Amino acid sequence: MQILNGNEVSKILKIEIKKEADLLRASGAKVPHLAAILVGTDGASMTYVGAKEKDCKEVGFNSTVLRFDAGISEVALLAEVEKINNNSDIDGLIVQLPLPAHINEKKITETISYKKDVDGFHPMNVGLMFKGLPCFLPATPFGILKMLEHYQIETSGKHCVIIGRSDIVGKPMSALMLQKNCTVTVCHSKTKNVKNYTLQADIIIAALGIPAYLKADMVKEGAVVIDVGITRVNDNTNLKGYVLKGDVDYEKVAQKCSYITPVPGGVGPMTRIALLLNTLQAVKNTSKNILKTNSQ
Ligand code: GUN
Repeated sequence: MQILNGNEVSKILKIEIKKEADLLRASGAKVPHLAAILVGTDGASMTYVGAKEKDCKEVGFNSTVLRFDAGISEVALLAEVEKINNNSDIDGLIVQLPLPAHINEKKITETISYKKDVDGFHPMNVGLMFKGLPCFLPATPFGILKMLEHYQIETSGKHCVIIGRSDIVGKPMSALMLQKNCTVTVCHSKTKNVKNYTLQADIIIAALGIPAYLKADMVKEGAVVIDVGITRVNDNTNLKGYVLKGDVDYEKVAQKCSYITPVPGGVGPMTRIALLLNTLQAVKNTSKNILKTNSQ
């Protein structure tokens, strides 16, 4: 069994991304600039945005975080998004989710210019992705593809079973694995006997958000297991008061598979890399005025 080490791969890819940013800077071209909008004080959201800021700094990108009170109105937030859409100094924009209940996330997502939508959530990017056309891929699926690519894991002709059908992981992942010539099965909360499907899988992508859901008896010997889950589980023995748990019963499943991602340190760092890659692509698009290919 080999661990798919997201921390290690992300370090390697960050060096490559930094080289590209340095080249842009040295040639007098525009340096990538990522903006993040953070509404309210949700702990996980603040951590994620802080990590994205740190990543930008590490690779030599500019970054701006716009923080707003949880009471900001939808109209005011839409106006802030429009301001960034019209600010040519900013190449990529993410609005950290979830947003407070009085704000329509769909409306906000659809207001971000699809040319700056480095999260790949805009319907234009979703449509382009499903057609296999140049676009911004959503960060988690894109990060998983980069991970599979790095470890040269064969996808063609393999059966990939995805557990979870969210708009940001399960659904796009299914389209992308299909494009990678996998036979794809998507299981979800209404699927009867998930084990029936996972036992046939060469590659399992668990993205349902239930800690330790995928047990060893659900996994075929030699399968590749990708764990997208990252749930905060209360733990008073820990300084933070919680531990991060994946969707896979790691210790036992690890004994059966060929490759597995740990949590933390697996998919998470790759998701952050994907956002950097999209931001780099965004600035290239502005200078060349084209959207490059999916494979970036
Ligand atoms: N909240 C949880 N995951 C994400 C993500 O990928 N992008 C944004 N904008 N918010 C999130």
